[in-house]
Amino acid sequence: MNTKVVKVDREHPDRELIECAGEILKQGGLVAFPTETVYGLGGDGLNASSSEKIYAAKGRPSDNPLIIHIADMESLERIVREVPEEARKLANAYWPGPLTMIFQKNENVPYETTGGLESVAVRMPSHPVARALIMSGGGYIAAPSANTSGRPSPTCAEHVEEDLSGRIDMILDGGEVEIGLESTIVDFTSEKPVILRPGYISQEMIGKVIGEVEMDKGLLITDSTVKPKAPGMKYRHYAPKAGLTIVQGSAKAVKDYINSQCRSLEKNGQRAGVISTDENQKFYQAAVVKSIGRREDEEGIARHLFGILRAFDEEDVDCIYSEAFDTPQMGQAIMNRLLKAAGHHIIYLEEQKEESK
Ligand code: TXA
Ligand code: MG
Repeated sequence: MNTKVVKVDREHPDRELIECAGEILKQGGLVAFPTETVYGLGGDGLNASSSEKIYAAKGRPSDNPLIIHIADMESLERIVREVPEEARKLANAYWPGPLTMIFQKNENVPYETTGGLESVAVRMPSHPVARALIMSGGGYIAAPSANTSGRPSPTCAEHVEEDLSGRIDMILDGGEVEIGLESTIVDFTSEKPVILRPGYISQEMIGKVIGEVEMDKGLLITDSTVKPKAPGMKYRHYAPKAGLTIVQGSAKAVKDYINSQCRSLEKNGQRAGVISTDENQKFYQAAVVKSIGRREDEEGIARHLFGILRAFDEEDVDCIYSEAFDTPQMGQAIMNRLLKAAGHHIIYLEEQKEESK
C-alpha cells in the first residue's frame, strides 16, 4: 500500500483535504492524524472491519481496546448506555481536551473496537485537524496512538511514517503535537471513578471538579500482583532498544553515579547514553548525552520524552541512563511513561535502594 503523506495547516485545515481523508475513513480505510496529545491512527469506530485493520497495522493484541474520538456531546449519547453526572461535569470542564472517559457501551459499538469489552473509551480532542476529520469521517473515529505496538507514541508525522508507512492509506502531517503524552483515562464503569492512565489532566485537576479520585491500584509499581484495569497498561511499552535505567536522587549524586557507570562501561568497550536536562548536560561524560529540556519546563519535558526515546534507537549505545522527572504537575504522567520504558528499573541513590521488576 502506498501511504500518502500530506501537510495540513493546524488552525485552518484545507477543506478538500479533510473531505478526502474523511471519505477514506467512511470507506473503511485508515488515516493517521495529529491530536493535542499524540498522533492517532484513525478508522471508523463503528465499523468492525476498520477496527480489525487498525489492530493489524499496529501489530496490536486484539484484547487491547481502542478509544472512540467524537466531536460533540450528542455523539456520546449515541454510543453509551448512560452518562453519569460526574462524567458530565468532567466533560464540561475538560472536553474538548486530553481526557478519555470509559462508559458502558451500547449496541452501536462493535466488540472489535472495544477488544471484546462491554465498556467503551471515549475522547473529544481539541486539535482543529482532529475535530475536522472526525466530523467529515462520520463522527466516531477509533484511534489508538499511531505507533507500532510497543514503541513510543508518535509526537510528529515523521514518527508515524517510521512505524506505519506502507500499512495505512494516509498521514495528515500537522507538525509537532502540543502535549506529547497520551490522554488521562478516567473509568466510570465502577462504583467510583478511577484514573486508569495519568496524563496532562492531573489527579488534582479532576479532584477539583468531582472530588477526590483514586489511581488504579495496578498503576502502582510496588504491587505487581494487581493488574492495571486498562488492558494497554499491562503491555511492555515505549522501551528503547538499549536497556534504560532511571537514576533518582540529588543532582550531584545522580551525576556521580551515572558518570562512574559510564566509565566502567567504556572500559569494557561499551557505549552509554544519558537522558539529561539542559542544566546538567555538560556534566555527563557519556558517548551520547541528550537533553530533554529545562528542568522547570515540565511541559517541554513531557513533549520531548517520546521523541528522545525514539532518537536513542538511532544511536549505537548499549545502555541508557536517565534522570528522573518527578515534576509538580505532570510528574505522575511523565514518570508513568518513563518507568514503563525502563521496565520499572529505577535506582534510588539517597535511600540506597534498588528496585527492579
Ligand atoms: O491521547 C490519547 O488517548 C491517544 C490519542 C490518539 O487520542 N490515544 C491513545 O490510544 O493513547 P491507545 O490505544 O494508544 O491507548 C488507549 C488506552 C489503552 O491502554 C487501552 O487499554 C485503554 O486505553 N482502554 C481503551 N478502552 C478501554 C476500556 N473500555 N476499558 C479500559 N481501558 C481501555
Ligand atoms: Mg498507545
